[in-house]
Amino acid sequence: MTEQNGLDALATESRRFEPPTEVAKSANVTADAYDDAWADRLGFWETQARRLQWDKEWHTALEWEPPFAKWFVGGQLNVAANCVDRHVEAGKGDRVALYWEGEPEGDRRVITYAQLHAEVCKAANALTELGVDAGNRVMIYLPMIPEAVIAMLACARIGAPHSVVFGGFSAQALVDRITDAEARFVITSDGGYRRGAAAALKPAVDEAVERSGIVEKVLVVRRTGQDVAWTDRDVWWHDVVGRQSDVHHPQSFDAEHPLFLLYTSGTTGKPKGILHTSGGYLTQAAWTHWAVFDLKPETDVYWCTADIGWVTGHSYVTYGPLANGATQVMYEGTPDAGGKDRWWSIVERYKVSLLYTAPTAIRTFMKWGEELPAKHDMSSLRILGSVGEPINPEAWIWYRRVIGGDRCPIVDTWWQTETGAMMIAPLPGVTSCKPGSAMGPLPGIEVDVVNGEGESVGEVGGGYLTLNEPWPSMLRGIWGDEERYRETYWSKFPGRYFAGDGAKWDEEHVLWLLGRVDDVMNVSGHRISTTEVESALVSHPSVAEAAVVGAYDATTGQAIVAFVTPKGHVADDVSSGEAFAQELRNHVAKEIGPIAKPRQILITPELPKTRSGKIMRRLLRDVAEHRELGDVTTLADPSVVNAINEKMGTAGDGTED
Ligand code: WTA
Repeated sequence: MTEQNGLDALATESRRFEPPTEVAKSANVTADAYDDAWADRLGFWETQARRLQWDKEWHTALEWEPPFAKWFVGGQLNVAANCVDRHVEAGKGDRVALYWEGEPEGDRRVITYAQLHAEVCKAANALTELGVDAGNRVMIYLPMIPEAVIAMLACARIGAPHSVVFGGFSAQALVDRITDAEARFVITSDGGYRRGAAAALKPAVDEAVERSGIVEKVLVVRRTGQDVAWTDRDVWWHDVVGRQSDVHHPQSFDAEHPLFLLYTSGTTGKPKGILHTSGGYLTQAAWTHWAVFDLKPETDVYWCTADIGWVTGHSYVTYGPLANGATQVMYEGTPDAGGKDRWWSIVERYKVSLLYTAPTAIRTFMKWGEELPAKHDMSSLRILGSVGEPINPEAWIWYRRVIGGDRCPIVDTWWQTETGAMMIAPLPGVTSCKPGSAMGPLPGIEVDVVNGEGESVGEVGGGYLTLNEPWPSMLRGIWGDEERYRETYWSKFPGRYFAGDGAKWDEEHVLWLLGRVDDVMNVSGHRISTTEVESALVSHPSVAEAAVVGAYDATTGQAIVAFVTPKGHVADDVSSGEAFAQELRNHVAKEIGPIAKPRQILITPELPKTRSGKIMRRLLRDVAEHRELGDVTTLADPSVVNAINEKMGTAGDGTED
């Protein structure tokens, strides 16, 4: 359990790691930033907004009518011009924007800011020709290829909000998102390379387009060259984008113009379309990237390993780094493609100095052994980042010692799809870090840990993490559902944003994130709701009832464990039970995507329920984690748990591939 890790850490963790002198001496941001923001929070954010290029200055920094915020009101800018054009205009057109590395060995592209500019202009012209304008949403379903970034920027350039869907999601997930966003345009590819093979993407789009019935055009990048079905809705990227002019004049958009929707799991089954807008979002994404990674755009090579399908890929692959004129690495494939040291050969080849990844990856590398990174010269590394879930102190120390050569500061960054950009993180030239802690809020961010009644726990103590002042990159709402926005984030503690996470201030007023406190699981840093997986399971014709819980997993943080009651009788022998469990796993993969496949499925004749009929998840979580059972007196039929427990003991670990 993440909570236990955090608490254990609190009990034993007294180590501190001071910022290295060289980093502290030349840091982009010093301790003054905390004072400046404390003295004048809005003024502080206005200063950061001025790092961007505005076509028209704002007249009001913040309009706050809880829970609705508008930042830099009256201001106008073009997000894509900020990420590309202004660097070219400043004479930096020859700087490399992307070192792209495909999964097949030797498959590489180097793209300068001038070339990126030409490509984004052509893509913007192509979208316009296809009929896309600022009133349309564009779905993007692509592998990690440069066209993914180009497509996002082209949409931003013409003011059409994009909605990127992770390439690992299923056709069903695409249908839900296309329908909710009412998207008439999709950008995809024939496929992408993953785990040493060409994995198809277009068939899922074809199915989703057929079923949603509202998509007019599908723009298809040729990546793998595999065969694809074709209709007259489909157009090839190389045809349509290829023949466009590389001149495109960016229009200015309002600071509050929608930039993107990104769907994320909540506590109910239906994913939420998190809405982000332009000026405030880009301000905080760019500033935090520059401050927390201490980015020196002339000399640093930055690499964020996140997929563009997640918010980290939005804020810290596309928008933040490019707004800062950074040089970055982008990698298409899995960490073990071409050898389990693939990442470290990439670090060595491009002399990566800033690396941003997730604890689940670090724990996987720990398992693979330190000899793999040791084979490579990684002396270029300067600062290491972590995101997505709490990083356990052991992984933190390993990351620092084995990857960072005991010299690189680690920045553990807490934030969410909803917050848009980092909120809680150390500053590498300022903060003396404790292993496993994100330390405290960044300058300009106000957090408060509260008890169940919404009262602040003060300087020391644990409870619920809330944000009690609006921030520039905050979500502006849930697409098409104002009520759900109010209800989800602002109703538990009126006037405060409730993040869904537990947190604790230790006796030195250092902040520890303790994981989700709601029905959202965090599997390898990806948010998956228990309800979503449950609905997928019960949509199988042989399933009567299902309960899903997140259980501690040494590598992925949490793993999905499902308890399923079949309709009628499923034979009791182990082999047919296993076959059924496998069928259910595949069914979940089809409904949501392979990342949502349960690690373990327990077939049980009944689920433990309270007398009022509520499924006792806490108890199931105990069972799933092999813990001592909690209080079972409210159980309608206590024997049910014993039966489940017995099964759990005999089920092996049923680990999924
Ligand atoms: C968790 C990812 C602890 C947290 C950027 C949050 C973290 C959820 C950290 C958001 C961290 C993210 N330490 N927990 N450094 N970073 N989380 O929307 O539970 O995919 O609420 O955004 O991930 O996940 P999301």
